[in-house]
Amino acid sequence: MTLLLLLVMLTVCAAIPQDLSDKMFTFPQETNTAHVRLTTSRQNLRAVTVCLRSFTDLRRDHVLFSLATPSAPNEFLIYKVAANDEIDLYTRNNRGNFRGQDYKLNMWHSICSTWDSTSGLAQVWFDGKPSSRKFISSGSNINGPIIIVFGQEQDSHGGGFDINQSFVGMLSDVHMWDFTLHPCEIQNYMDDLNFTPGNVLNWRALEFQTIGRVLIEDKQMTCH
Ligand SMILES: *[C@@H]1O[C@H](CO)[C@@H](O)[C@H](O)[C@H]1NC(C)=O
Repeated sequence: MTLLLLLVMLTVCAAIPQDLSDKMFTFPQETNTAHVRLTTSRQNLRAVTVCLRSFTDLRRDHVLFSLATPSAPNEFLIYKVAANDEIDLYTRNNRGNFRGQDYKLNMWHSICSTWDSTSGLAQVWFDGKPSSRKFISSGSNINGPIIIVFGQEQDSHGGGFDINQSFVGMLSDVHMWDFTLHPCEIQNYMDDLNFTPGNVLNWRALEFQTIGRVLIEDKQMTCH
């Protein structure tokens, strides 16, 4: 029975869209292998918004969202650095840092990041609080076949994982849009109200593969 469970757990799941409402991915172990892999037919994005919720007790650097193309491993990367108040956002391999975040361990956080290639401006929203708007990169779109990975940070297209940048904890409610989401829509996401689901990644119809020890579990709700 245990062996069977383990086999099921370790099997690569086929990429058919799944409704993950009230579910989460659990990354229960520090490895340089376990991850969730997603692809999209979209090959050209002039703007991006990504929203997600995460829960961890990691104090070290760790990845929250890794999108790579063959030309740029850090095409769109949300990365928590060890300094406890800083989140870094990379677009097209360029880095912007967003300080003053109240990133506490052992609680759910809601994080959204926006960027558009015309102005080059990016912004990070953390638990309802918008950051300064900062220039990261402009003039070129995200372009090429896209691989998105949860749980590991890509240093190459779909690989190049580093155990010391891996994610351990839980991840949920991931959406991605091909435009910058209106601040009121971001607020709706943060407050768990109705919002327009992602048109690139939609948590309610997500196509993905899990590789290694990643579990899909019910989100633990607070009891009344
Ligand atoms: C990860 O970090 C540990 C502790 O700092 C270090 O000993 C190890 O060499 C690092 N591993 C890699 C692959 O960088």
